Amino acid sequence: MKRIAVFASGNGSNFQAILDANKSGALNAKVALLVCDRSDAFAIERAEKEGVPAFVFNPKNFFDKAAYESDILEYLETMKIDFIALAGYMRLVGSTLLEKYEGRIVNIHPSLLPEFPGKDAIGQALTAAADKTGATVHFVDSGMDTGQIIAQESVTIEPGETRETLQKKIQQIEHTLYPAVIEKLLNGTKETIQ
Ligand code: GAR
Repeated sequence: MKRIAVFASGNGSNFQAILDANKSGALNAKVALLVCDRSDAFAIERAEKEGVPAFVFNPKNFFDKAAYESDILEYLETMKIDFIALAGYMRLVGSTLLEKYEGRIVNIHPSLLPEFPGKDAIGQALTAAADKTGATVHFVDSGMDTGQIIAQESVTIEPGETRETLQKKIQQIEHTLYPAVIEKLLNGTKETIQ
């Protein structure tokens, strides 16, 4: 069974969705590690509750990205991690991790990429008065949300939509889409990956 590390910076509802899919049997993989760059992130509590080890680090305590990614990499290798799922990890992945894991790191982003990359994708969609947006799962490369798209699902932006209502709608689809895509990537055939 493949071993996954989830990287998160905040609430961790997508991390939870991955854990829940694992428990229900929808995702056949071992969620073996949480990597988190904020000691106050709720994702850490979720990991504790589920008995998942957490590697928590403060980027400010390191000289640069390469330094903290070297520490993460050492941990990933010790824990024999095969695959990385970024789930609200608010940092660009650098060359230290990409050299070892490119093609085995995915991210979920709250827009229909290439539209609205980067920070505050939901705010960007509202400001642009778009009539739809959505969620995208993509491979991670060195750019900002530029890697190959694996799957997307859209939501309609209704008149009077607020940031809160739109975020709720997008997260609802993320929580189903992300575990399903990870399952297909790890255990499916090429044909099942759309
Ligand atoms: C998710 O909606 C994810 O798509 C987004 O952060 C949220 C994290 O929520 N990611 C990005 O914006 C990455 N650019 P969560 O912590 O509850 O899973």
